[in-house]
Amino acid sequence: MKNIQVIGIVGSGQMGRGIAQVAAQTGFDVILYDAFKNSLDFGHNFIKTQLAKGVEKAKWTEKNAEDAFRKIKPTLDLSDFKNCDLIIEAATEKKELKFEIFKKLDELAKPDAILASNTSSISITEIGAVTKRPDKVVGMHFMNPVPVMKLVEGIRGLETSDETFLTVSEIAEKMGKTFVRAKDFPGFAVNRILMPMINEAVYALYEGVADVKDIDTAMKLGTNQPMGPLELADFIGLDTCLAIMNVLFEGLSDTKYRPCPLLKQYVAAGRFGRKNGKGFYSYDK
Ligand code: CAA
Repeated sequence: MKNIQVIGIVGSGQMGRGIAQVAAQTGFDVILYDAFKNSLDFGHNFIKTQLAKGVEKAKWTEKNAEDAFRKIKPTLDLSDFKNCDLIIEAATEKKELKFEIFKKLDELAKPDAILASNTSSISITEIGAVTKRPDKVVGMHFMNPVPVMKLVEGIRGLETSDETFLTVSEIAEKMGKTFVRAKDFPGFAVNRILMPMINEAVYALYEGVADVKDIDTAMKLGTNQPMGPLELADFIGLDTCLAIMNVLFEGLSDTKYRPCPLLKQYVAAGRFGRKNGKGFYSYDK
């Protein structure tokens, strides 16, 4: 296993900032990059607030929070990643954008640095293929909210080496997460199972089987899930759910993965869920 001390994170949105917080709290030096100053400042401040909330709840001490916060260096300059041992990309879920980022990271990162993606559905093999180090490209799929959720889904691209996969499994465990191993097929393991369940809940609503609240209550109380599937869809983002269903539908060429027309309609109307205040439920922005 490689010795990892400095972790670079691309993107300070809800996933990137969560990964940065957990990495810093578990002793890594973190460089947090975002292309936009507003997002970077928001993400960096959000981590500060989360660390302070943990102090109030006596989850950790004020000193732990200060030490962790100090370990995070925000930057708008990707070339600050040149000393990173591991870089975790958590940018927007767009294939072309990720390809562009990985090409840049491949040029500027140390030759032996591992490049990981937090993608929830884009092929790790394809991402690896745009670099000259596909053996060092791997998927590290964290769940939202990162500080709370115990899982990291590891995705092994066709060319990912044993050493790379072993290293990221150990890093995930050092971050206090349980690492599961998935192969690089559409949706990997989590979304291959989760998204059809969410899509089926939308079909149940579309076909009038039950209303929003009853679908969620049925699944919450009937199957012990913390959130019902429609509430969870809002939490993840309806645009993200639709994008993942499209990856399953196209990648597996099977009509059982066709996205529900109602999900498509909500996204077309701009109902993206919690992030913009309206999905299956309404939220205060
Ligand atoms: N960041 C950090 N901590 C958070 C948080 C956040 N955004 N949101 C909640 N928490 C913490 C709270 O501080 C609280 O901690 P304590 O118990 O130590 O006080 C704890 O989580 C519980 O929070 P709440 O009491 O406010 O609310 P809750 O009991 O309703 O739990 C939840 C909220 C943890 C989000 C819970 O509803 C849940 O587990 N939901 C399911 C989440 C899930 O399935 N995530 C995976 C989505 S799929 C994915 O991410 C992958 C993909 O590719 C789409």
